[in-house]
Amino acid sequence: FFAKPWVFVRGVPALKFLPPEGPPEIAFAGRSNVGKSSLINALLGQKGLARTSNTPGRTQELNFFVPDGYGDPAAGLPPIALVDMPGYGYAKAPKAQVDAWTALVFDYLRGRASLKRVFLLIDARHGIKANDEEVMALLDKAAVSYQIVLTKTDKIKPPAVEALVAATLERIRRRPAAFPELVATSSEKGGGIDELRVAVLRLAE
Ligand code: GTP
Ligand code: MG
Repeated sequence: FFAKPWVFVRGVPALKFLPPEGPPEIAFAGRSNVGKSSLINALLGQKGLARTSNTPGRTQELNFFVPDGYGDPAAGLPPIALVDMPGYGYAKAPKAQVDAWTALVFDYLRGRASLKRVFLLIDARHGIKANDEEVMALLDKAAVSYQIVLTKTDKIKPPAVEALVAATLERIRRRPAAFPELVATSSEKGGGIDELRVAVLRLAE
């Protein structure tokens, strides 16, 4: 599944351009610059597939990725699609544009039947912030399953990662749609990427 290349198939700037509901989708959500696009590249082992940047606000559409062979609609429906998304929170872009991305992301998250799991990315240096809580509340209300993924764990010491994992698990314990396990990752060093692949495979089955 991950040995073969994946391809970019569609960038969705507004809800009306979404593909028809169908194959399961896994969405990567989180604050701007948390490392969503980098994590997709690490997961697929393809540097440069999803475009990354040091500047928050890089990803500006809902970007769909599918296993190669399903890039052409004539090939039929893919077994699964990964969806990279614009971030929420601060971004280096005009406020009206940031507001439009946030609305697109929130509408997609609460209204998409094909959405099987959201990986909610949290920067290991910062932990859960108020706007992450807002997204969790939205997903709990919409009954969309989400799993917390800590990112950039290479930037803090291992004991601090362990403490953050414990604190974060405690914090989501009573949230109805939160998956009760989390994954600590580093796209830079490769930590946690195998675990994340297993999670994706389970959802594709
Ligand atoms: P937006 O699309 O702007 O919302 O950002 P994003 O969440 O897609 O983040 P992106 O993947 O573009 O990464 C943002 C920055 O963080 C880039 O400079 C990456 O190189 C860096 N980065 C991402 N993941 C890691 C990681 O695991 N470790 C380290 N050290 N840096 C990372
Ligand atoms: Mg991005």
